[in-house]
Amino acid sequence: MPSLNKNILEVTIPGTREFANKVAQLEDAIDLTLGQSGFPAPQYIKDAMIEAIENDKLRYTHNRGLIELRKAISDKLYNDFSVHYDEKTQIVVTNGGSEAIDDIFRTIINEGDEVIIPSPSYLGYEPILKLLGAKVINIDTRSTHFIPTPDAVKQAITSKTKAILFNYPTNPTGKTLSYEQIKALVEVLKDEDIFIVTDEIYSENIYDTKHHSFIEFEDVRDKLFVINGLSKSHAITGARVGYVVSTPELITHVTSVHLYNSICVATPSQYGALSALTHDDSAIKEMNKAYKARRDYLYERLINMGLPVERPNGAFYIFPDISAYNKDSYKFATDLLNTERLAVVPGSAFSQYGEGHIRLSFASTMEEIVEACNRLERFLNSY
Ligand SMILES: Cc1ncc(COP(=O)(O)O)c(C=O)c1O
Repeated sequence: MPSLNKNILEVTIPGTREFANKVAQLEDAIDLTLGQSGFPAPQYIKDAMIEAIENDKLRYTHNRGLIELRKAISDKLYNDFSVHYDEKTQIVVTNGGSEAIDDIFRTIINEGDEVIIPSPSYLGYEPILKLLGAKVINIDTRSTHFIPTPDAVKQAITSKTKAILFNYPTNPTGKTLSYEQIKALVEVLKDEDIFIVTDEIYSENIYDTKHHSFIEFEDVRDKLFVINGLSKSHAITGARVGYVVSTPELITHVTSVHLYNSICVATPSQYGALSALTHDDSAIKEMNKAYKARRDYLYERLINMGLPVERPNGAFYIFPDISAYNKDSYKFATDLLNTERLAVVPGSAFSQYGEGHIRLSFASTMEEIVEACNRLERFLNSY
């Protein structure tokens, strides 16, 4: 066989999928591995997609996406952060946040570059970076409540650093950055010659606080890429709509990667996203109310079980420390699945700094969460 790209051999199936695949084969198992909402998508999004199909809106759009959709994104950013991003030059609509991650890194990375990622972190970044021959430098955030500190960031920067990536609210911990915390990070980063990539895909899944963006800080805007999308906010992971915003120059290059990769996002999905962003956010508020109630329940139960755990402010994940029971989270999750038929994601899937933890998703229903807690408690009592 001809040889493969040497970097692909480094890339394996993620831990989240592995446990989700196993649970699918087990009867009466409970799946808390989900990374997506269990709610149906709001009807107005579905209607807009159906109408687009019925009206034969099935041709390519502008590579950067429908101008009306980009305008809706621009309006949203202005409403949220009082900063104007020009719909013609500063926004590209991508196939989910996933393509946005790939497009940005292919725009900036050369072989041998280093990218700093506060961790535990989403498992979608490292494989893309490995494929590009970059090196990931994980910052250990465990002793600072999963929040990257300015000092830790400063220490991780070397002459090879090309970018730093922040994902908040964070998958898998559910923690988020406050305005003050972002400001302190900006102070360290503003004079560094490195790009800042922020993945804010969970910005709307936020519970006790307001989401703030690096966009609000002018000092770093000329080297900032922001990723967002509708997958998590509007329960439409399968529609595949995300976006990148940045400077006109950087967006020109991101557009090049995007257009040779996929030309544009599926047109009916773009109409669905347009409908989502031009409706009020009552559907999001309703879903968040339910997630918050589940978060509160899950947090209380885990505390009562004696597991050290941070209270999440966003996303739909909670990340208890199970190291007192087993330091090997993969073994712990496998035993839990086999004994109690409860599927969770081992923390080791989220870098070495996730080890000793498990990720539970509260995108599952309340009934499932209650039963999952009962099973976990029983498991811990006999483990
Ligand atoms: C932090 C983070 N970024 C990006 C993505 C990918 O999002 P999308 O489905 O929009 O591609 C996910 C999905 O789980 C995620 O957790």
